[in-house]
Amino acid sequence: MKSVSINAARLQQEIDDLALITEAAPPVVTRVLFGEADLRGRVFVKNICREIGLTIREDAVGNIFARWEGADKNLPAVATGSHTDAIPNAGKYDGVVGVLGALEAIHALQAAGFQPKRSIELIVFTSEEPTRFGIGCLGSRLLGGVLSLERAAALRDRDAQDLEFWRAQGGCKGDLSSVKLPKDCYAAFVELHIEQGPILEAEKLDIGVVEKIAAPSTLRVQLTGVGGHAGATLMPGRRDAALAGAEIALAVERAATTTGNPDTVGTTGIFRIEPGAVNSVPCQAYLEIDLRDTLVKTRDAALVQIETAVKEICGRRQIEFTMERLNVDPPAICDAQTVSIAESAARQLGFTVKRMISRAYHDSLFMAQVCPTTMIFIPCHKGYSHRPDEYSSPAQIAKGVAVLAQTLAKLAE
Ligand code: GLV
Ligand code: MN
Ligand code: MN
Repeated sequence: MKSVSINAARLQQEIDDLALITEAAPPVVTRVLFGEADLRGRVFVKNICREIGLTIREDAVGNIFARWEGADKNLPAVATGSHTDAIPNAGKYDGVVGVLGALEAIHALQAAGFQPKRSIELIVFTSEEPTRFGIGCLGSRLLGGVLSLERAAALRDRDAQDLEFWRAQGGCKGDLSSVKLPKDCYAAFVELHIEQGPILEAEKLDIGVVEKIAAPSTLRVQLTGVGGHAGATLMPGRRDAALAGAEIALAVERAATTTGNPDTVGTTGIFRIEPGAVNSVPCQAYLEIDLRDTLVKTRDAALVQIETAVKEICGRRQIEFTMERLNVDPPAICDAQTVSIAESAARQLGFTVKRMISRAYHDSLFMAQVCPTTMIFIPCHKGYSHRPDEYSSPAQIAKGVAVLAQTLAKLAE
């Protein structure tokens, strides 16, 4: 395959344009599943798919598939893709580089006159971010058959709306049972993404190729205490739900820092209290806790430690609680052959490259259960991500897209 020419300026313009489709004022990007901005973002991407002649299909949970038909339609396709939904207060590169970058890679391969033998398919996954339902990778979980239909039906957002409601808002058609992909439908899946960590930049490397994705888990804890007047309720005997929540958040930190594995990380990223009046004792608290690790053993030990702490704290403070494991996932091991194809593509292009672990999760975590999978990482400024000042330069992105294009070409040949 002769080298392809990536139009970095066009891609940057598309990234900038998509970043203007947001629920929050730019430069903040927020696109929550099937909210107005998420829906407009999808239209934006589908328009580019049409411009470059891809055939679009959408499944019953809103995953978008855009196919460049290969010469042999009977062969399993090669897939690439990522997400365009964004958590509150996000930047413009997370997920987007893997979607618009993949379209640029396809565009560049087309311009170079490449004729794929296998079809090449972009997948834009629904709700990689856990913002609406507390569970990430909703679309890819369903594609991989990892989320049961019963659990999907039980999902509720903070207003108690279910997935059926939001599917209707998203214009999704068909039954959720049709989403699961058959085995062997793809020959491989490769996701381009910003690293979201500092390693590539610190080591002055162009490209990372992912060998393993760390194991995520999420706990939801709801606490009910007794509210009352902040002036008239004396301190002895108070049953303050916020204080129990505060102790739980500290227990999360303690559990994550005492496993003996520096890769264990724990975050209480959601902590809401009710009624939220300065002169009222908090009667309710709602926590979502994110706990991850490269090793299942230490992640699970920390998880049990947190659950034990919740029971102890609530018992001592006479707080009623419910506690639910929203997800407890194994790590993904990437496919050795696909990893080495991506690594060789980077080296052939003259880029510096290292193999690495992804500490963030991605739809690749679940695509790895469907077909041979890897990821291509590019550096991002100081490793910043999930914040508005997330940044990768057009030149860094173009290198990642070039590696993706070569990798797809090799896999589709
Ligand atoms: C993905 O957004 C993650 O939280 O790792
Ligand atoms: Mn993210
Ligand atoms: Mn992402």
